[in-house]
Order: sequence, then structure tokens, then C-alpha cells
Amino acid sequence: MAKIKITGPCRLEGSVTINGAKNAALPCMAASLLTESSITLNNIPNVKDVDTLASLLNFIGAEINKKDNNTINIECKKIKNALAPYEMVKTMRASILALGPLVARNGYAKVSLPGGCAIGARPVEQHLKGLEKLGADITIEHGYIIAHANTLQGTEFTFDKITVTGTENIMMAATLAKGHTIIYNCAREPEIENLGQLLIKMGAKINGLGTDTIHIEGVNNLYSAQHSIIPDRIETGTYAIAALICNSKIKIKNCNPSHLIIPLKKLQEIGANIEFTNNEILIQSPEKLSSANIETNPYPNFPTDLQAQYMSLMTQAYGTSIIKENIFENRFMHVGELLRMGANINISGSIATVYGKTNLLGANVMATDLRASACLILAALAAKGETIIDRIYHLERGYVNLVEKLSSLGAVIQKIN
Ligand code: EPU
Repeated sequence: MAKIKITGPCRLEGSVTINGAKNAALPCMAASLLTESSITLNNIPNVKDVDTLASLLNFIGAEINKKDNNTINIECKKIKNALAPYEMVKTMRASILALGPLVARNGYAKVSLPGGCAIGARPVEQHLKGLEKLGADITIEHGYIIAHANTLQGTEFTFDKITVTGTENIMMAATLAKGHTIIYNCAREPEIENLGQLLIKMGAKINGLGTDTIHIEGVNNLYSAQHSIIPDRIETGTYAIAALICNSKIKIKNCNPSHLIIPLKKLQEIGANIEFTNNEILIQSPEKLSSANIETNPYPNFPTDLQAQYMSLMTQAYGTSIIKENIFENRFMHVGELLRMGANINISGSIATVYGKTNLLGANVMATDLRASACLILAALAAKGETIIDRIYHLERGYVNLVEKLSSLGAVIQKIN
């Protein structure tokens, strides 16, 4: 099985280009199920999760053509199987995004319940409650969600809990419902806005994108559209942290700094020198990083998807930092591996206390999920000696060419077997 070897400490210089956001690409791809017309998506990242969803859409009945490296065309003339099988959903939870579009267009869907994963239990009852409120009849049988609906009916629905894919699923379903839907307590992530903009291009009538209340006037049909996926804000944040942990200065190109206001402010607070335009960030590390606390919360707050990477950084900052994870109940799996590299971190429930600065030493470590992998790569860049990171398939789910990009910035990093 492939591993990554890093020999640190590394210095970075030069520039890196950010790819499209995985978490924006996936819902936009799922939205293609809402219409028999073709949807063209630009700036699609070449990551494993995109391939997994493409296989699922293909199984459901969509034809998918790659126009060039980052452009795909999806056309689902007919729903052949309104089914997301367990085998596919278990490799990628975001397959749940097929549920809303399938029920709305086809009146029936059978989607495997995702179940828990390395970072938490991750239930989907909010998706189901929302669809039921729109008129779907939902049962759970043999591990599958079975949803029937002759027609979906516009409604008012309030999420009990803020959920990103839940908001996306209900928003997609409501575009084809009869009448007006108001969804309250929505997530406000830029990926949801990006999806909403695609739906509007397809003919959906949506207002309130980017706020916690979304209004949708149902339409009978949706049509062909072309749309560009936003830059990946988590990839952007990961490279910004890489610059700081390597005591370096780099330029991050093709990104959207306005999607990272709070994380970038935090990096400035710990000493980073940051200049940005509307699509580039120039980030430089100070001589000494200072520590600062963070708490993860829904957008626009500090993202849970950058928590692990920030924790690596805090091992190299002077002082104590408190990191509170409010989104997922088990997102500290990287801590055990950081300890093996010499970090001094104490966990109590949802709070990790990082005592810095510690001199990290290379070690053999194991990635447990996508963002934990990124955290270990960052720690390895700062650590003295050789680190071998195992189970890097997690990384390939969400980062485009991470090894190549870091290597071109000057890191001593390679993939080994
Ligand atoms: N939740 C419920 N019930 C629900 C839905 C969610 O209790 O019906 C809880 C979850 O268990 C969690 C919290 O609400 O504690 C937030 O979960 P959310 O539904 O927002 O997460 P998600 O939609 O499954 C997306 C991203 C994740 C990202 C989270 C939070 C995609 C495909 N995935 O997941 O991305 O961490 O939002 O921002 O958009 C990643 O890219 O590494 C990743 C895990």
C-alpha cells in the first residue's frame, strides 16, 4: 500500500495553485440528477470522492464525460436505478446527496444509510425530517432509507441542527416541489451557495443563499447549465498553515480569501504576515509563532475541516492553545499520532490543550481520515528526520496532487510503496 515519506524540517518557497472544492463539487454533481438535460461543471478537482460519486451517478443512469482535466459533463436522461447501494455509500458518506434529487425527480429512492465514520456517528435524521416535511414517506429497511413521494409539496421546515449536506439535500428536493418552501436554520457554507447558484442557472427559483433562511419556489422542470466549482477553502487553509509550520513565505493562487476570513484572522493573530487580493494570498511566517485558542463552529466560524491542521501548527507555536471541537464528537484521532512525534497535547472531552513549542521528531504514523492525514503531513514537514505516513488513501479522497504540490514548493516529500 502506498505511503508518504517526508524528511524534515522543510522550508517552502514559491507558489501553489488551489483546485476546486471537493465539498462543492459533490453536491453540484448530485444536482445533475434533478434534470434530464446536461450539466457541465468546470474546476472539478481530480480526487477520489469525485470519482466515487461519478460511479454512483453512472450506476443511477447518468452518462458522464470528461471534457478536459477539470471539466465534466453529466447527463441523466433517465433514472435507471433509484438506488445508492451500501458498497458505494460506505466508501463515501456524501452519496446521501443523491437522496433529495432522486425523490424529487423520480418519486422513489433507496439509499443506504451512511452509518458512522472515523470522526463521529454522523446521523442523517435532519435530511429525512426535511424530506418528510416536503411530503415524502420514509422508512428504514435493512439498512436502507426508502423514500416515496407522488409529489413533493412546498413547506416550512426548520433544521434542529445546522447541517451542510442536509441543507443541500432539502434545497435540491424543494426546487421541484409544488409551491413555496422556506427552510430555516440552514448552514451557510460557501459550498451551499455555489450549489444554489448552479440550481438557479438550471432554472430553480431560490432566494436567501448565504443566509440561514432559504426560500425556494418550486418549478416543474430544471434545465441544462454550465457552472464553475469554487476554489477549495480547506485546501487553501492547509497550504497557508504549511507555510507557517515551515517558517516560510508562499503565494497561494486561484483561491478565494473571502471564504476564509476567520481562519486567516486567526493566523494573523498568531503572527502570520498575510496580504491578499480577491484570488491570491501571500503568507509569511513570523520568526516565532504565538499560540491562540480556536473553537470549531459552522461557517463563517473556524471550520472543523481545518482543526487538525491547526493543531499541528500549534505544536510549533510558543505557549498553550486550547482547541475546542464542536462539530464532530471524535475528531481528535490525529492526536495520538502527533504525540508519537513528540507533541505535548492533552485531551479532555471535546477540548484539546496543546503545549508548545515542542520539537517534533519523524516517526511512522497512520492517517485515520482525510483532514487527519493533512495534519500529519504538516507535522512531518516541521519534524526533524523521516516520517512515513501510512493509509494515505484518505488523503487522496480530498487533496489534488498534495505530494507534487508540496514537492514543487521545496518540501522533501515522496510517495513510496
Ligand atoms: N448532524 C446530525 N443530524 C443530521 C445531520 C448532521 O446530528 O441529520 C450532525 C453531525 O453528526 C455533525 C453536525 O451535525 O455533528 C454537522 O454535520 P453536517 O451534516 O454539517 O456534516 P456533513 O454535511 O455530513 C459536511 C462536509 C464535511 C464537513 C462538515 C462540517 C461534505 C461532503 N462534507 O459534512 O467535510 O466536515 O460538513 O462542516 O460537504 C471533509 O471534507 O473532510 C468533511 C468531513
